Amino acid sequence: MIAGIPILVREPAGYLRSELELLAQTSRDAERRRDSLDKVGTDAGLPGVSLDRHRDLLNAEIAQAETFLALLEPTVAGMGADSSEALGARPSGWTTEALLPYLLRDWTSTAELEAVSDRIGAALKHLFPDPANTSVVFAACGAGGLLAEIPADFDRVLGYDLTLPVLGAARCLLDGNSLEIALPRAIKEAGRITLRKRDPRSPSARVDLVAMDALDTAFADGSVDCVITSFLIDLIPDPAKLADEISRILGRDGILINYGPSGPLKAFWRFDQPETAAFLEAAGFTVVSAEAYRATYLDLSRDCPSWSFQNHVCYLTCARKAVPAAERPSLASPLPTELPEIIPIHFPGAKLIRRQGLGSQPTHTTIFRHEGIPGRVNTVRIGADAARIMALVDGQRTVSAIAELLARETPALPVDVVCRAFERYFQQRLLSWRRCPPKEPTARPG
Ligand SMILES: C[S@@+](CC[C@H](N)C(=O)[O-])C[C@H]1O[C@@H](n2cnc3c(N)ncnc32)[C@H](O)[C@@H]1O
Repeated sequence: MIAGIPILVREPAGYLRSELELLAQTSRDAERRRDSLDKVGTDAGLPGVSLDRHRDLLNAEIAQAETFLALLEPTVAGMGADSSEALGARPSGWTTEALLPYLLRDWTSTAELEAVSDRIGAALKHLFPDPANTSVVFAACGAGGLLAEIPADFDRVLGYDLTLPVLGAARCLLDGNSLEIALPRAIKEAGRITLRKRDPRSPSARVDLVAMDALDTAFADGSVDCVITSFLIDLIPDPAKLADEISRILGRDGILINYGPSGPLKAFWRFDQPETAAFLEAAGFTVVSAEAYRATYLDLSRDCPSWSFQNHVCYLTCARKAVPAAERPSLASPLPTELPEIIPIHFPGAKLIRRQGLGSQPTHTTIFRHEGIPGRVNTVRIGADAARIMALVDGQRTVSAIAELLARETPALPVDVVCRAFERYFQQRLLSWRRCPPKEPTARPG
């Protein structure tokens, strides 16, 4: 655990040393270049103003490295840097320098961050109307600004990345602190910029940050409800491996939300709308929605007027983890003979809403709502016994298991009544269903 960040990589000590060594190396290289600047610059005939720019740039690099090292103190003080171990095999993310623009975009209240987080936030709200007990994780979260914008009512929010110094900065900022970063005067006249949360008073979810490889996470199989990726799949060399890992950690019906540009026209893997959909289908996902937006990429020109930036189309794709074909929910009515042993399943967004009318003779009604067709809400009024049946549908119990439970409750419902009720619900498409997975053969002794 470093600066509040668990290190969940395979070789934590080597990883840690190498992250620190990279920072120390950046600082040493900048010092060396600064020391030789006068001689090299004068020999080349560089004017004084150019020498000043180089000196200022190198000073900013050294100051930045010191800021990031200080964020990881005091836990790492005295660890020392063993460069032979540090430079051994290890997974790595981006350099801190490459992520600096992301820190600025995420923590200086930019319109760009707001636009991305609004789009992802709207998708989350639509896909998880009831976010309690829902876990959202952000793979390769970079500077982590998007995590601060995830609605507070999600049960568990966690971001992971491999660039430890930037995770350190994100931890400090998510905790409500501000952070001053040195910048070259050529891009910011003041020579520094203050980073902080967009609105420190707005409630945000408690966010955990973890140093972890997105291709080899520490999550248990099927333990996560939603994975978000942004500006990632178009950039990493092996997106199929990333999709496999995401599929492994997502639970049944788990959701992947991906945001980002397509990447270059000649890229081997390209992620415009049709290629993203084909890629995700092949990786075992079903695309639920896809939208395209024209967006700026790292536009910091408000605070850094000389900053240049790109403008491209970004795609927001939401996909659901597909279940094995044999276990896929069916909408057809089951045969009466198989009815007792099938597993009823609720459609997305299924809810029981109990309404109490006010007045001298209060009335109680129960509404059952679901989205049998994604995005289209269907509501029906149901009776008290139907509500008891629906409440026991959990995607695990069979029809007969539910009927037996209700036969033991008070007031009891006869097994055949419950089975007939299920038959009607399937015909009315209030529920879908799947067959039980085949039982594992029991191991024979010896
Ligand atoms: C372009 S940045 C995007 C950051 C963030 N997703 C955002 O949209 O602001 C790519 C991020 O992927 C991280 N990254 C690359 N490979 C990774 C890996 N194998 N595991 C974890 N993070 C990784 C980098 O460290 C970097 O933070």
